[in-house]
Amino acid sequence: MIHQSKSYIKFVRLSKNKHGVHSPFVYDLVTKCFNDKTKYPEYHILKSYRKALRSDPSMIEMKDFGQGSRVFKGNARKVSSVVKNAGMKKKRQKMLFRLASYFKSENILELGTSLGLGTVALSVSNEFAAIHTVEGCPNTLRKAQDNFEKFNLHNIEIHQKVFKDFLAANVLEKYDLIFIDGDHNGERTLGYFKSLLKNVHNDSVLIFDDIYWSKDMTAAWQQIIADENVTVSIDTFQWGMVFFRKEQPKQHFVIRVG
Ligand SMILES: C[S@@+](CC[C@H](N)C(=O)[O-])C[C@H]1O[C@@H](n2cnc3c(N)ncnc32)[C@H](O)[C@@H]1O
Repeated sequence: MIHQSKSYIKFVRLSKNKHGVHSPFVYDLVTKCFNDKTKYPEYHILKSYRKALRSDPSMIEMKDFGQGSRVFKGNARKVSSVVKNAGMKKKRQKMLFRLASYFKSENILELGTSLGLGTVALSVSNEFAAIHTVEGCPNTLRKAQDNFEKFNLHNIEIHQKVFKDFLAANVLEKYDLIFIDGDHNGERTLGYFKSLLKNVHNDSVLIFDDIYWSKDMTAAWQQIIADENVTVSIDTFQWGMVFFRKEQPKQHFVIRVG
């Protein structure tokens, strides 16, 4: 927690809005996507999906494959409480939708489904996209799957696997957008990044959640942005994004999202 507070102070000091950005690629991304205030009709689906989970009184026995929760103790958790305390926030969910739409991503990978708040945002970004989402806990995934069906989200393929096994079995697949939202451990996150280098192309984007969750996550993020394959990297505090566009000079941006 101290690490997060200290990092946030540093972030605010270093961060820029659109005015300090001199790269046309990043400027367009900030103005046309990050700061896009359009009220997309798809936002209603995100709202209804969240509402359905928020009013779900059932309990699920969760097996956490990652770093565990800072909120919950024990494994039996109420669906409504998981969404309230540990689910992706509304603003981020909308941003994930906008990112997938902006980049016109067609083949998408999410590591960490949980109850599917991120998955639904990716799914409604383009009904013809293929969304692959990976989750280790079978009970959580079953609940997410029930809701995907209820909301007629037919472009989602679920994979009940640990991330490492999924990545080892999918070395040839190329993804346009990859969202890494689980297992907030620095060493393993760095391992996922290295393994995912096989799955990216020139225009792929990788999004890492919670890069300031702990010192080791921040250290992993620093190593990721220093990697020779990465050209543009963007720190929005909650998320770190990396790009591999060979036409861009290597450059790091710290951006406050509007
Ligand atoms: C923060 S939650 C994901 C939140 C979700 N993306 C959302 O939008 O609400 C992380 C999830 O990743 C799963 N997870 C963590 N580490 C994993 C691993 N190594 N393999 C498989 N699943 C893992 C956890 O079980 C948990 O459900």
